[in-house]
Amino acid sequence: MSLSNQAGHLRWAAHTALRAPSVFNSQPWRWRVSDDAVELWADRDRRLTALDPDGLLLGVSCGAALHHLRTALAADGDEALVERLPEPASPDLLARVTLRGRSVRAASEIDVARYTVIARRRTDRRPVANVPLDPSTVARLCDAAEAEGAHLLILRPDAARMLGAIATAAARAEFNDAGFLADLAAWTRRDAHTADGMPAINVPYGHDRVVPMRDFAITDRRAPAERRTLDRYATYAVLWGDEDGPLSWLRAGEALSAVLLDGTVEGLAMSPVSTVVEVDGARAALRNLLPARGAPYLALRLGYPVSAVNEEDPCTGRLPAGRRIEMDTAPARTGVPRSDSPVHTTRTGPSALAS
Ligand SMILES: Cc1cc2nc3c(=O)[nH]c(=O)nc-3n(C[C@H](O)[C@H](O)[C@H](O)COP(=O)(O)O)c2cc1C
Repeated sequence: MSLSNQAGHLRWAAHTALRAPSVFNSQPWRWRVSDDAVELWADRDRRLTALDPDGLLLGVSCGAALHHLRTALAADGDEALVERLPEPASPDLLARVTLRGRSVRAASEIDVARYTVIARRRTDRRPVANVPLDPSTVARLCDAAEAEGAHLLILRPDAARMLGAIATAAARAEFNDAGFLADLAAWTRRDAHTADGMPAINVPYGHDRVVPMRDFAITDRRAPAERRTLDRYATYAVLWGDEDGPLSWLRAGEALSAVLLDGTVEGLAMSPVSTVVEVDGARAALRNLLPARGAPYLALRLGYPVSAVNEEDPCTGRLPAGRRIEMDTAPARTGVPRSDSPVHTTRTGPSALAS
């Protein structure tokens, strides 16, 4: 592949990765594509300031995007070298991915299947059917997390009820926290044209759950909604790992993406629950549910949907590629990509930039 083709190819992979899930759909990443590599940068301007002071959820979101990019490349038969946090002096440079050439083996079925569902994966918060998870599906999800260096703990019903108590206490603490309410307002009341954040109106609240889901409209409602439908059949899980820091948060996000994509292939409805790691006391309590010493990154709700997602329904928006991907194919440019800068220092030409 010529260098300009290579840059176009990397841009295509970064474009695919824009569909990754992120906390509050904040999309706190920036991609910089050069002739021989693509870099993933944290966009701290898009961090939820009160809810995510350390950047745990930002790191997990960016990790999910990195795994989406890796999946696209692997499904296309590329071998890539991934360097995580490659420059200690630039902590916002989360990863650098370099193409090593075409893989001698055909793309694996798993990578192709994962790539195929990227466009239709979505967070599904609807009540789930009264059908237990297939043990082989559970094993597949746990293996997917392990392969990315994290663990997925499937909670037994008693532990799920404890998770529910932890989530309830966390939601109460957040409800009384002015900083959290400001974050919530900022990321749920975006202008329609911004294509980021969570439109609260889209989130089905009001189902009685073992673990309460985040009420995205709480600043409008100011009181718990009436709870009509009993949603007692979901399975809950905790994504956790041995370490607690930027590298492990990135790896956790890669594991999250692998679990969500495999779960989508398996026909599951899944939604992350991060309230339980956003409040210090809640995260400390969550540690006690783990089978060994370690750090919880996120909880997940899993089940089979009662009805298929209508793929005609609009899914959550994404910022235009031009605001998240920078083509940096001109020689000798250094430094952090500017937040929300218009794109283009490219020699690849318009065809390589086509979305
Ligand atoms: C780190 C992280 C934390 C999240 N926390 C929650 C949560 O607490 N509650 C929830 O309903 N969705 C949560 N989500 C899901 C996001 O809101 C969702 O990914 C985003 O709105 C994009 O929508 P999509 O997943 O349908 O593409 C989380 C996602 C990530 C990656």
